[in-house]
Amino acid sequence: MNFKMAKNEILQIFSRTGLQDLAKLIDWMKNTDDLEDFLVDNKRTVLKSIAEDLRPYLPLEAMIPSETMAIQKTQQNSEPTVHVDAFLYDEETVDSLCEEGKMSRNYCLNCGSRRTSLLEFISHSFSIPELLFLFHHVLPDLTGKLVVDVGSRLGAVLYGGYLYSAAAQLVGVEISEEFVKLQTMILEKYGFSDRIQVIHADICSQSALVQKADVLIMNNVFEYFLKPKEQVRAWQFISQHFQKKGALLVTVPSIQEALMSLQESNVVSALGHWLEEVPLDYNAYQQNDADPDSLTQIHLYRLL
Ligand SMILES: C[S@@+](CC[C@H](N)C(=O)[O-])C[C@H]1O[C@@H](n2cnc3c(N)ncnc32)[C@H](O)[C@@H]1O
Repeated sequence: MNFKMAKNEILQIFSRTGLQDLAKLIDWMKNTDDLEDFLVDNKRTVLKSIAEDLRPYLPLEAMIPSETMAIQKTQQNSEPTVHVDAFLYDEETVDSLCEEGKMSRNYCLNCGSRRTSLLEFISHSFSIPELLFLFHHVLPDLTGKLVVDVGSRLGAVLYGGYLYSAAAQLVGVEISEEFVKLQTMILEKYGFSDRIQVIHADICSQSALVQKADVLIMNNVFEYFLKPKEQVRAWQFISQHFQKKGALLVTVPSIQEALMSLQESNVVSALGHWLEEVPLDYNAYQQNDADPDSLTQIHLYRLL
C-alpha cells in the first residue's frame, strides 16, 4: 500500500468511528506505546524502502555478470554457499522468498532424497542491524567527520551513516560502474546528496581522499573482488595513505585475518606501528534481529 492509499484508509476509519470513540481513538494514537515500533524507527523504514527500490535492478543473487571472480570464489567455498545480500534481503524477506520457492536455505545431500543440509549464506553488504550496531555502538559521535566507505557497492553504509550518524560527509568509492549508478539513483530519490557523494574509481587512485578521511570503512572489500597480488597492493596503498593520527578504521574481518590469508605475515607484524585495536562490546546491540557471529566480525582500529 502506498502513502496516499494508507492515508485515505486512516481517514475513512476516522470518518466511520462514532464521536465518543473517535475521541478515545485519537487519545490512544497520541499516547499509546503500541505504535512505538513504527514511529521510533522511521529510519529503518527508510532503509527498507531503499532495499525495496534496489531489488528489481539486480538478479536474486545480487551479483552482476562482470563479477566473475566473486562468483567463482563463492562456488569454490568448502561448504555449498550462496550470495544473499543482507541489505536487500532481511530475514523476513528471505523467509517469504523461501515459502514462495524462489530461494532456499537448504541443499540436497543426495539428489531426490529428503536428506538436506543448510546452505552457507554470504553477503557483500552490511545488513540493517549491522549498520545500526556500526553507527550506534562501534563508532563514536561523528559530528563534523569525513567517513569513506571503500567499495560502497549498493551504498548501505552511506545511507546508514546518513540516517544514524551526524557525519558531515560520507563518501563511497566503488570500482563497479553499475553499482555507482544504483547508488546515484538512490541519492537523488531520497535527497541524500547534501552529505553523500559516490565516486566511481579504484580506491588506489584516491590518495587525497584517503589522507583526509577521519573514518575508513572496509567491509570485506578486496577478498572476493581482487586477485591476491592486487589485494596486497591495495592494502599497501591504504596503509601508506591512511595516516591521520587518531583516525578510525573499521574492517570486516579483522585486519590480521584479511592479511594472513594473503600470507603477508611481514605486513601483519608491522601493523603495531600503524594502528591499535579498540575493544568493542558486541553485547551492546540489544535487539534480537542480528546474527551475533556477523557482529563479531566487525573490528575497530585507531591510527597511532
Ligand atoms: C563486500 S562489498 C562492500 C559493500 C559495502 N561497503 C557494505 O559494507 O555494505 C565490496 C565492494 O568493494 C568493491 N571494490 C573492490 N575492490 C575495490 C577497489 N580497489 N576500489 C573500489 N572498490 C572496490 C567491490 O566492487 C564491491 O562492490
